[in-house]
Parts: sequence; structure tokens; C-alpha cells
Amino acid sequence: MEYSIKSGDPAKQRTACLILGVFSKRQLSPLAQQLDKACKGFLQRILKRGDMTGKHGQQLMLYDAPGVQAERILLVGLGKARELNRKRYAKIVTSVVKGLNEGHAIEAVWGLCEVEIDDSTLPQTIRETVLSAEESLYRFTETKSEVKKPQRPLKRLGLFVHDRRHLKAAQQAQSHAQAIADGVKLTKDLANLPGNICTPGYLADQARKLGREHSELKVQILDEEQMAKLAMGALLSVSRGSSQPAKLIIMEYQGGRPGVKPVVLVGKGLTFDAGGISLKPSAAMDEMKYDMCGGASVIGALKACLEMALPINLIGVVPASENLPDGDANKPGDVVTSMSGQTIEILNTDAEGRLMLCDALTYSERFEPAVVIDIATLTGACVVALGHQTSGLMANNETLAGELLSAGAHVGDRAWQLPLWDDYQEQLDSNFADMANIGGKGAGAITAACFLSRYTKKFKWAHLDIAGTAWRSGTTKGATGRPVPLLAQFLLKRCGL
Ligand code: BES
Ligand code: MN
Ligand code: ZN
Repeated sequence: MEYSIKSGDPAKQRTACLILGVFSKRQLSPLAQQLDKACKGFLQRILKRGDMTGKHGQQLMLYDAPGVQAERILLVGLGKARELNRKRYAKIVTSVVKGLNEGHAIEAVWGLCEVEIDDSTLPQTIRETVLSAEESLYRFTETKSEVKKPQRPLKRLGLFVHDRRHLKAAQQAQSHAQAIADGVKLTKDLANLPGNICTPGYLADQARKLGREHSELKVQILDEEQMAKLAMGALLSVSRGSSQPAKLIIMEYQGGRPGVKPVVLVGKGLTFDAGGISLKPSAAMDEMKYDMCGGASVIGALKACLEMALPINLIGVVPASENLPDGDANKPGDVVTSMSGQTIEILNTDAEGRLMLCDALTYSERFEPAVVIDIATLTGACVVALGHQTSGLMANNETLAGELLSAGAHVGDRAWQLPLWDDYQEQLDSNFADMANIGGKGAGAITAACFLSRYTKKFKWAHLDIAGTAWRSGTTKGATGRPVPLLAQFLLKRCGL
């Protein structure tokens, strides 16, 4: 959908539908009050009849309001003013936009951006509006033979901003939000594709496509032969068990001054993780097509960054492979040598993400990064610890950790930090190699990060475990596009925006 910022006299908005808020009980929002003056108390009279109290989620469509250019006015219940928070606001956006999309209006003007929500600023509310609207309109239809489309889908949404002093900031927030939404959509689309379509080669092609669409993006794909020359023994040991060749996708965006150290994003790109010889149980194994969500979020964050034309140097690295059990697959007990020279005893072939990431992290050294952030659906243990609401964060640098935590909080895409203390390192001890690839019973999310920490000594590094947050299971099964909003906000902030 297309968004724009609207301002001026609310009564003079020429639109099919003007959306206004009502708090309970029967309290018009400031903008609705202003409009009510223009239509001589029409709204108040309707409220007095008792059809609407302003309860959260209520909706009332009005036609032919006198003295108003809008064809329709949609009154939306916001609930009690002091109970209105982001989550409740997002729910309103989702249901109203869904209704409009199925209704008759193909464009509308949204008059709820200036209502007070917790401590959100106007730009934050604008972003929330755009992202929630896009979330509610998102459908993954690529693999359906027949798609039912609404007759008159919503195509344009104007976001009304009354206070002229805020117009510039509002416009910027709207255009940033649209870019972030585009990044989220790309991430979801890639992630929702099944493993037989979205292979490592397909992911590489999508990265190349992004490079063709944006000349500022340089894309390079390393094949297995090139990775062998780099001695990426850990990464290649994973792809040996699959007939799809692994790819190392490298995307370089130079939006900042030459010579300024880049931010490097490394995303786990397992296009399917069956576990290998340590085969996973079959229940819900289909969901392991989502094991490339880290990689997809790196590609999505780059897309957002390109569309925002951020003045930053940003590099994305996505090691992509399948993890399957064939005759050449890793076996428990195998010892492999990583690009760093450190040897790894593979005690569980299902802990493959770290084997891919460790070589991609070592590879990242060559960029002399300002910081490296890896994003991975790395451990079931992280889901146990933090559920589906919160991403796990571990870092070797507290400033970087703080930046990521606050970026997530700012956009409602939150992470929570787990400790990365040395105390946990000994769980990776191996009798036969420099380390084992699993850390035993306790603290699985942390020991996975401990493993990665042995490959990130040369730079500031943070690790986001998105195993719980990258997709939803059950009847609403599908990718969430997280943590693209967090990453985009982190990058915006680094650019001083
Ligand atoms: N991709 C999985 C992690 C995962 C599990 C993500 C469930 C989302 C939901 C990863 O490759 C994996 O299998 N991890 C193992 C590690 C274990 C063998 C130490 C796990 O979490 O069970
Ligand atoms: Mn696995
Ligand atoms: Zn995995």
C-alpha cells in the first residue's frame, strides 16, 4: 500500500473515508472534536444516541456528515485513554485496515496518529501504523494456485498530521516506515517459501536480484570450491550431507564515506534443517524451512537500508545450506577444522547453525568491521527461555548490546540480554578437538553463543537468537519479518536519524 502525510483542515479532506478516534466513554479525540465543530455537533449527537461508547475495538461507519468533504467517517473505539498502549493501538490498526481492505473505499485518511500512546512520539506512532497496516494486509500466496482478492482493496492511506511543526518529521517517519515494511515483506516472502523452492541457490539469486535493482549494492556469491580454498571446513561439513551446494552470499552497500568501517550483519541461512544424522523428530519438522530467517532478515534489512538510502557502510553475509542426512553427511564424533584453524568435534549434527556461522564470522574479519551482528534461529533453548515474544541477545560488547536492546524497544521488536560469562565456556570442552559443537544440558542458548564467541574475538560482536521470534506456528503459521525493524532502527540510530 501507498502512504502519504496529510495535513490542513480535517473537514476539507477529500477522501472516501476519514478515520477518527473515540475514547471511552464517548470522548472524541482532539482531532474528532475539531471535526465535530465543522459538522456542528453531528458526531456528538451520534454518540449521545448510544451506538458507540468508545470501547476498544468498536467501529461505527457514518455517511454524509454535514459540512465535511469525506464521504464516510469511521469512528473507532480507542478504549480508556490511559490504557491505550502500543499493542492496543496496533490491534486497532490491524482490524481497521483489514476491514477497509475488504470494504468499498480504496483510499482513506487515518486520523489516529496524534492520539497519545504511552510515551510514543509521533514518528514512532507513524511507524507503528505503517508496519501494523502492512502486517494486516500481508498474504503469502506464491504457492497457492488460486488467490481470492478483495474486490476493492485499500490502495492508499493518508496519515493525517494536524500539527504543522511535525510535518517534516512525520514525512521522514512515513518514508522510513515504508522502506522498513518493504524489508519486512521481503524477509517474510523468502522465509515462507518452502525448502524445495528456496534453496541456497535461490537465496543467492534473490540477493543478486536485489543487487540488480540497486546499483549501490555489490553482490558476490562464493561457491563451494571458493569456500574450500578459504578452508571453511566447518561450513562445508554441513552442506556435504545435502545435494544442494552451499553458497556464501556477500552483499556490500557503501552508503557512507569510503574508509568508514562497516557494520556487518551475518545471517544463518539454513534453507532446511532436518538435523542431519542427528535427525529431528518429524512433528513440525516442516517449520525448519524457516531456519534461514536470520539470512532473510539480513537481506530484508539491506533492502530497507537501500530504500532509505542510509549514509552507512553495511555488509551482509549469509552462509546458506541445507542440513540433511545423506551418506556423506557429518556423523556424531566427526572432527572438522574451521577457517579459523580451530577444530570442532561435532557431537550433534543438529547444532549446524554455529558450524555455518563460525566460518562466516571468521570471513567477516576481512571487512575490518565497526561491529558484527549475527542473526540466527539458533537454539530451541532460546524459545524455552524467552518464548516467541522476545529475541535472545548476547554480546562481547556492552555498548553494542545496549544499542540493540534500545533499538528493539523503540520499535516494539524487543530483545533481552542473556549472560555470556566465561563460566559457561567449559561446557564446550572436548576430549578430541578444540571444542565440541554442543554444550550439554543447561543454558543451550548461551553455550551456542559461547561457541560463536570463539570466532569473534577480533571485533565487537552481538548475537541475536531469533528461534522464537522469526515465525509463528499453529493456524497463523508464517514468518514475522523480525528482527528487521530492530535492525533498521539500530542502523537509523547509527546514522543519527
Ligand atoms: N534450527 C535449530 C534451532 C531451532 C529449534 C529453531 C527449534 C527453532 C525452533 C538448530 O539448528 C538446532 O537444531 N539446534 C539444536 C541445538 C542442540 C542440538 C544443541 C536445538 O536447539 O535443539
Ligand atoms: Mn539444527
Ligand atoms: Zn538449524
